[in-house]
Amino acid sequence: MRSRKIAFLEGFLFAAILAGGIIAGCVDAPAQTADQAWLKSSGVIYPRNIRALGSGALEQSAVEELKRGLGSVASGNQTARVADAVAGQTVLGTVQQFRRAFPDLKVPDDLRPGGYWVDLTGSSGHTIYIVGADEPGVLYGVFDLLRRREPGKIPRILHSSPSLPIRWVDEWDNPDGSIERGYAGRSIFFEGGNVRDDLGPVAEYGRLLASIGINGLNVNNVNAAPQLLDSAHLRQMARIAAALRPWGVHLAMSVAIASPQEIGGLKTYDPLDPAVKAWWAAKVNEIYALIPDLAGFTVKADSEGQPGPASFGRTPADAANILAAALEPHGGLVLYRAFVYNHHLDWSDPKADRARAAYDIFRPLDGKFAANVIVQTKEGPIDFQAREPVSPLFAGLEHTGQAMEVQITQEYTGQQRHLVYLAPMWKWVLDTDLHANNQSTPVQEILEGKSFHQKLGGMVGVAGIGRDHWLASPLALANLYAFGRLAWDPSLSPEQIAEEWTRQSISTNPEVVSIVTSMLMQSWPAYESYTGPLGLQTLTDITGSHYGPNIESSERNGWGQWHDADAQGVGKDRTVATGSGFAGQYPAQLSKIYENPATTADNLLLFFHHVPYIYQLHDGKTVIQSLYDSHYEGAAQAARFVADWSHLQGRIDPALYENVRARLEYQAGHAIVWRDAVVQYFLKLSRIPDREGRAGHYSGRLEAEDARLTGYQVIDVIPWEDASRGKAVTCPGTTPGITKAPPNESPASVSPGRQTCTAEWTWSGPSALYNIAVEYFDLSGGQASFTLSVNNRSQATWQADASLPSTRPNGDNSIRHTLQSVALNPGDTIRVEGTPDGLDPAAIDYIELTPIPGNRTDLSSP
Ligand code: GCU
Repeated sequence: MRSRKIAFLEGFLFAAILAGGIIAGCVDAPAQTADQAWLKSSGVIYPRNIRALGSGALEQSAVEELKRGLGSVASGNQTARVADAVAGQTVLGTVQQFRRAFPDLKVPDDLRPGGYWVDLTGSSGHTIYIVGADEPGVLYGVFDLLRRREPGKIPRILHSSPSLPIRWVDEWDNPDGSIERGYAGRSIFFEGGNVRDDLGPVAEYGRLLASIGINGLNVNNVNAAPQLLDSAHLRQMARIAAALRPWGVHLAMSVAIASPQEIGGLKTYDPLDPAVKAWWAAKVNEIYALIPDLAGFTVKADSEGQPGPASFGRTPADAANILAAALEPHGGLVLYRAFVYNHHLDWSDPKADRARAAYDIFRPLDGKFAANVIVQTKEGPIDFQAREPVSPLFAGLEHTGQAMEVQITQEYTGQQRHLVYLAPMWKWVLDTDLHANNQSTPVQEILEGKSFHQKLGGMVGVAGIGRDHWLASPLALANLYAFGRLAWDPSLSPEQIAEEWTRQSISTNPEVVSIVTSMLMQSWPAYESYTGPLGLQTLTDITGSHYGPNIESSERNGWGQWHDADAQGVGKDRTVATGSGFAGQYPAQLSKIYENPATTADNLLLFFHHVPYIYQLHDGKTVIQSLYDSHYEGAAQAARFVADWSHLQGRIDPALYENVRARLEYQAGHAIVWRDAVVQYFLKLSRIPDREGRAGHYSGRLEAEDARLTGYQVIDVIPWEDASRGKAVTCPGTTPGITKAPPNESPASVSPGRQTCTAEWTWSGPSALYNIAVEYFDLSGGQASFTLSVNNRSQATWQADASLPSTRPNGDNSIRHTLQSVALNPGDTIRVEGTPDGLDPAAIDYIELTPIPGNRTDLSSP
């Protein structure tokens, strides 16, 4: 009997034939759909007769989702086997419903809330049973089935429960429609101070989140706008909650701790004031009358200018517990962020250290929080850098529910313009064993409540989705997907998740899956190596864009992201013996490791130690040589991504191919900007040459400031390391009428009138074919244009129309345009003509000529 059934299953788990392995999207798709991410038709055929045992909204969503998954198989084209298969049935429902309807079915009794058991063994004929612990579990079981794209490899039983009860995504959207640290357009939730009329994308987002098991969505910025708690806005928020409800995603809100005063008319927001307590209780009752399933509140207080309990000498526990008391009768949670620190630290005080703040403030409060308070801690002690150690606070709170906050939106990790798959970073954190109380306590087990027996633990991902294709970059969606999958099951491997995502989003073709997965897996190490190796965090402009290189922006200010580089050495001393003492916040075993440079891993060395540039790493290299090598290797890896992706041409959707190709090419160029900035900075500071002779020597590079200039003026770029040799040229003309700089920034030069400027070089190298890269600055506030010509013959014209941060020429907006195969002979005149537009002064850094291999000898120094 059993073998017959299996033969049958092999018949009905049948791969649908979809053109070229590309997964087709939905016909008649609305503007922004979950299908544009990974929720495309599954391409695997299941029985079409779908029956829900219950009538709840989530079960209905599950039925619809199954039908949608089958939707692309046209019945006219079905083979006899497929027709036979689809004649079977799929039954779905909760454990309770199944026990009543199918008492003989052996449903396991270990399902936790949200868990599911899917039986594909067809125990009573052509039937699939999808059994959820509860309604969300039914939905999650359906999504598990639909995400399986390899018919031959679908297990006969799918049996899973979420490891963490709190699986939230946070959005940092503002009522005006802007998004803090969002890189994908405007908010899908808000516009003009109100919730948007069209919540179609919100419902689609709910669907997308449900497919990866997310059960909470906080939609407004942690720097919370108090007006969202007024009655009119709460009614609007209820519409968002309603759009999410069919997907089991509960709305959560960020609340400003000063709300009782700011919108409540009270004289204070002191959490221990009885009137404040009563205000919160009444407000929470009002909210639950409108949104009965609100998940709870997120709180950012006493942090980066946000008001908080410290103003009244109260603690985070005082503030959290007042909210918790109001929420408790409704089953709501408070996620109180441990991101509390003083950003006016004294940089000259070796004991001052922002990294210490969360532990110093929250550890003494352990045990003082109400049961429905969860302390939400960023994964590292600073702020979502390219690399940080794990926050020691995870080991410091044994009597408090804890959630780990990670960032899906790539604030410090390339802002979705760089390919950075973050799952390996999160996985590394989850796997890190903090050895609390000399026991094995990996972060994952602390969050799961295994280490300290806490019931409420979770993961929160700051997503930053917007109206531009969710995360703008197609490959960045792998981060959102991976976040949900790891929050469900932290034991999954990042590779496995990457493969799963690729099969659903791009193609099931094994070679495509292998190339994309390998690119994803190499992307974080590559980014780390050209932006912040050896534990230097991200050497970016920390007071501005958080994007391009700006090494000194971290130093000598109160923000506390110091790396203390000087002429002799680099790194922040965080030891107990001579530094800030941060290393001592870890349990003994790790603390001992981090206290000593010899036992600290190279990739965290400079986070914990100040060492001379000639300090020898575990691999035998000196720190300075490693800094050089790492930047060259990282930039070379970024260039290889372009080559890797080129293998997918013709094998995947052409629009997707082109979109990602252009992004990778940009990234490869920007990785060179990063490389050169960091390398020339440390070369100048340390005065130690690169053993490989690369630093400071750029063969084939012709500087703009050395050219014959007409109209162009030489400027000092700030910071100097962001331009080759610190200088660039800028064309002072602007479009008439636009002479005003945006607030707080003045453009490099602004004057009325329009003018074209030129920079000319005479070629003195050998005759050959060259690729010519023009490194220029693409400023916002205008679209300058450029023409490159050789001996007055135009070779290319292009516009500076990228959307990049900053209105001054610097590493945020330094970008290259490359012309392929240009024939040059000694004496030829190469000219770049720049035409400014608006606030974009057509600034140029250099041109760089690379001989095409096989086309004469290498270019010697021109
Ligand atoms: C970072 C980020 C801010 C954000 C803050 C937070 O500092 O740059 O925009 O508000 O984190 O997490 O609260």
